[in-house]
Amino acid sequence: MDFKNKVVIITGASSGIGEATAIKFAKKGANVVLVARRKEKLLEVKKKLSNFPGTSLICQCDVSDKEQVNQMSKKVLDEFGRVDVLVNNAGFVIYGKVNELSTEEIVAQMETNYFGMIYCTKAILPQMLEQHSGHIVNVASVGASFGVPGIASYCASKYAMLGFSEGLFHELDGTGVGLTVVSPIMVRTPLFDHPSFENFSKFSTGISLSSETVAKTIIKASNSSRLELVVPSAARAGIWFKQTFPFFVNPIIGNIFRKQLTKRNNPN
Ligand SMILES: NC(=O)c1ccc[n+]([C@@H]2O[C@H](COP(=O)([O-])OP(=O)(O)OC[C@H]3O[C@@H](n4cnc5c(N)ncnc54)[C@H](OP(=O)(O)O)[C@@H]3O)[C@@H](O)[C@H]2O)c1
Repeated sequence: MDFKNKVVIITGASSGIGEATAIKFAKKGANVVLVARRKEKLLEVKKKLSNFPGTSLICQCDVSDKEQVNQMSKKVLDEFGRVDVLVNNAGFVIYGKVNELSTEEIVAQMETNYFGMIYCTKAILPQMLEQHSGHIVNVASVGASFGVPGIASYCASKYAMLGFSEGLFHELDGTGVGLTVVSPIMVRTPLFDHPSFENFSKFSTGISLSSETVAKTIIKASNSSRLELVVPSAARAGIWFKQTFPFFVNPIIGNIFRKQLTKRNNPN
């Protein structure tokens, strides 16, 4: 797809994967809407985009707040009159055993990672259906296919995102609107700056990706007829293996990540 003059909304655009995706779309001449809570970070990203064609619009918005999302969507439609790509990327994770996290911490991850995606989709989808065009990209994780100790509630939010996306994907057949989930393995971003990751051996479990690699897949996803793109694609074999032989794979995954959880709780 030629993204020149297309209107692209990216939630979680103030850092990491969202920022890298905004830069990639801007380089392709798209008008980019930058959505996140931290205005000063959004202004920094907007400044980086000023070197490229197309305009950018900042929308300070907490995606877990339905009213704020509706205001954001109104602002975008007032400004551009259409939306071609919606990238539901905003998300966060709190590390710790279910027994250690508060109920509020568990619910908050669902509110942003899952309901934030629902609010944005519900706000923008009617416009895309009216246009008979557009694409929704939902940034999930390989954690949408593996329940990992230490991030159970995060995995739940991504499983929910994948299940919802699969249902909606089928509903959208023949409407001109597409949907693709992007599921990366670990990415080197500020996601792990959350205090709960203190003593967590960051980026040491196998390979990790750059934000730019994931951004490249998000661009590809915006024009894809596939339901899910796993990054790197070789990781799909791991998902297949787990789903086909869960009794064999689950204990291995459980052991690896349980050890990391124990090490983090007893760093010495
Ligand atoms: N890093 C990884 O290993 C990895 C792997 C797989 C999937 N992912 C997914 O990739 C997405 C982006 O994460 P990242 O790795 O790029 O982390 P990041 O650098 O921490 O970016 C997260 C973004 O989400 C925004 N955000 C968080 N809560 C929000 C809310 N309530 N409303 C609006 N914006 C909110 C943050 O901005 P503000 O704080 O300014 O609001 C920030 O821009 C997430 O959905 C994450 O689950 C990451």
